[in-house]
Amino acid sequence: MPIMNWDKSLDIGVKAMNDEHHGLLDIMNQIYDAHAAGKQGATINALVAKLGEACTEHFAHEEAYMQRIGYPGFTNHKALHTSLLTRYGDFAARIRAAGGIASDDFFQFLKFWLSSHIKGIDTKYAAHATSVGR
Ligand SMILES: [Fe+2]
Ligand SMILES: [Fe+2]
Repeated sequence: MPIMNWDKSLDIGVKAMNDEHHGLLDIMNQIYDAHAAGKQGATINALVAKLGEACTEHFAHEEAYMQRIGYPGFTNHKALHTSLLTRYGDFAARIRAAGGIASDDFFQFLKFWLSSHIKGIDTKYAAHATSVGR
């Protein structure tokens, strides 16, 4: 069972970013499925590292996009990304220290990020893109 399914509420209306969000959700579900199947150790650590890299890349793409469209909320949005990556790094370190065992609060964090950041924050630069005709 996936941690979360893609649904329309995650669609921000910018195709390239939707595609990347979709990719991130896929990796989150892979971690969740592996955890639910009792996987630990290197398998989990590798997936957690893969998600961290994909997030770092996605945020960089999103930040470049926001600058390209002249989004006025850029600085705040970038600060939120930095804080998400810091928290992600803390979770990843804890999971590694626990021998590759993902925790419930890690999945809560991922869910929160999906629902709150994508729906509440990413939609704002998307609205700006629409308003300036990008
Ligand atoms: Fe995003
Ligand atoms: Fe974002």
